[in-house]
Amino acid sequence: MATWSEADIPSQEGRLAIVTGGNSGLGWFTTLGLARAGAEVVVATRSERKAGESMDRIRSIVPGASVRFESLDLASLTSIRSFTERMDRLARVDLLVNNAGVMFVPRRQLTEDGFERQFGTNYLGPFALTLGLLPTLLRSSAPRVTTVTSSAAKGGKKRIAFEDLQWDHSYAHYAAYCQSKLADLMFALELARRSAAAGLPLISTACHPGVARTNLQSSGRGGPPNAGFRLILHFIAQDAEDGAKSILRAATDPAATSGSFYGPDRGMKGDPVLCPPYAPALDLPARAKLWDTSEQLTGARWKVPLEARPTPTAPRMAAA
Ligand SMILES: NC(=O)c1ccc[n+]([C@@H]2O[C@H](COP(=O)([O-])OP(=O)(O)OC[C@H]3O[C@@H](n4cnc5c(N)ncnc54)[C@H](OP(=O)(O)O)[C@@H]3O)[C@@H](O)[C@H]2O)c1
Repeated sequence: MATWSEADIPSQEGRLAIVTGGNSGLGWFTTLGLARAGAEVVVATRSERKAGESMDRIRSIVPGASVRFESLDLASLTSIRSFTERMDRLARVDLLVNNAGVMFVPRRQLTEDGFERQFGTNYLGPFALTLGLLPTLLRSSAPRVTTVTSSAAKGGKKRIAFEDLQWDHSYAHYAAYCQSKLADLMFALELARRSAAAGLPLISTACHPGVARTNLQSSGRGGPPNAGFRLILHFIAQDAEDGAKSILRAATDPAATSGSFYGPDRGMKGDPVLCPPYAPALDLPARAKLWDTSEQLTGARWKVPLEARPTPTAPRMAAA
């Protein structure tokens, strides 16, 4: 099969996309790729200053690019609610890319709502955001949600530790990151399953970027990686632009089916291809439990708006 490249992105003219964390790293290249293909892109992130600078860089590459900033802090349910209310005033949103995240926060920290920071920012925030945006997404004729997970979803405890979900008892920065990214993959697959069961046109895809050189390796840790880690990154990682290809493919490939998962063909780097989802994410009872727990924790609810429900097909006439 021919290699997938950004040139394969079909025109996104007329589509409105939201990219969380669109100001940095993989999110920035995702925003660039979508804007280049003609989409209107909302850069949803915390800092207006950083978003402004990142959008200026996009406009210098794509003159006339339609990009704008909207404030969103995924570590705050209040901020998420305010964001989804503002987005609900739009005619529709066609694509949500759940990209923003933090990694390896050294000591246990809590979000505004008392969630462990990696679980809260990387998973519970995007969960509440997606469910809050559902009515707006379902006003699109081809709605899609793409969630960025990580090969780290295979690491750590390799399961959701429901007995200590917020790491009150045994915080480990690596395992906490792994769990948050496993939860992302479980969410993307469960969203696909529920949408299909409800007869909704929503496509939910997941992706992982391999290992890419971005701010992720320093932001959560609160400083640059040490020399050893930098050396490892030099050999195993790819550029952010290449890492973003899995996201762009999962977000735009017309052939992508709901529940599909994309990642680099050589694991840590390479061209974006379909991958089998990691085994723990296929555990249906664990997915259901995670979903219910997340609804309780965030107050977000899976509620299909009346107008989005498929009309039942007329009963077949009995043969005369
Ligand atoms: N890079 C990799 O090798 C790799 C591998 C696997 C998975 N991933 C995943 O890829 C995604 C993007 O990461 P990246 O590598 O591009 O890292 P990055 O350059 O650090 O970008 C992370 C983005 O998330 C934003 N963010 C962090 N906390 C937020 C919050 N509370 N609310 C809203 N936005 C927030 C950051 O905003 P600020 O600029 O304001 O901090 C930034 O825009 C993450 O989900 C990460 O887990 C990355």
